[in-house]
Amino acid sequence: MTELLRIEGLTIVPAAMPERMLVKDVSLTLQPGRTTCVVGESGSGKSLTALAVMQLLSKQLKQISGRVLFQGQDLTTLNHEQMRDIRGKRIGMIFQEPMTSLNPVLTVGYQIGESLTVHLGLKGKALKARVASLLEQVGIPATRADSYPDELSGGQRQRVMIAMSIACEPAMLIADEPTTALDVTVQAQILKLLDELKTRMNMGMLFITHDFGVVADIADDVVVMFRGEIVESGPVAQVLNQPQHPYTKALLACVPDADGKKALQPIDYAWIDGDGVPA
Ligand SMILES: Nc1ncnc2c1ncn2[C@@H]1O[C@H](COP(=O)(O)OP(=O)(O)OP(=O)(O)O)[C@@H](O)[C@H]1O
Ligand SMILES: [Mg+2]
Repeated sequence: MTELLRIEGLTIVPAAMPERMLVKDVSLTLQPGRTTCVVGESGSGKSLTALAVMQLLSKQLKQISGRVLFQGQDLTTLNHEQMRDIRGKRIGMIFQEPMTSLNPVLTVGYQIGESLTVHLGLKGKALKARVASLLEQVGIPATRADSYPDELSGGQRQRVMIAMSIACEPAMLIADEPTTALDVTVQAQILKLLDELKTRMNMGMLFITHDFGVVADIADDVVVMFRGEIVESGPVAQVLNQPQHPYTKALLACVPDADGKKALQPIDYAWIDGDGVPA
């Protein structure tokens, strides 16, 4: 099988404080038609890893080592123009704060169509038909193309973001906590939708979440991050049923049972050595 993504030894530091590693020596791979979930508590480096793949790290941050091979090509060696051509076309991304990523003064149809015009040159009737089909694929009536974002519900706006991210049928989708702000029923619908799209388009998905319920639902493989490092990775059944690392065990212990009994157990960090570094 051709490898879709290979991150090798990715290390990210604040430009002004290079000794503080925010992401440390992260390596992972993703195959077409599979989903890798990246889990870990807030601040563990999940979003920075995703932004580094897209080459969208802010200027205050610096990638000091590592390669990001997408379909064999090292994205870290590309210039802005080459990267613009890949973003949105071959790699789609749903950002962590999707509600703020839509432009309030443009119709959702226009916003979905934009990348189709830029990347594929679609215009006029062909563009309209493709936008209508994308809206329907994400479960929104095509007639809503003329609506503005604030005329849609939160769940519908999230679906619009998904339609935008998959418009050009990218080989890979990076989804950074795409359902965190949604209620559980809408979340379940969106996860099902993403899973169907993955299968139908043989798309590889890098899915960031802190929710093990979501992991159990959609992951093929899991990567667990703690303080910028990967502490455990493997197939989903292995990581969920036989977690090896104390942090993974602790995270899983915090997942509530159906009756909520296990909820809100504080994580015991006794396994971390004196430097605050995982043992
Ligand atoms: N521009 C920046 N300058 C300095 N530090 C930053 C910057 N952006 C992020 N960080 C730090 O990098 C670390 C990792 O951030 P990141 O956004 O990747 O976390 P995360 O795992 O996505 O967390 P969350 O689950 O809350 O989204 C955090 O400690 C954060 O404070
Ligand atoms: Mg994040």
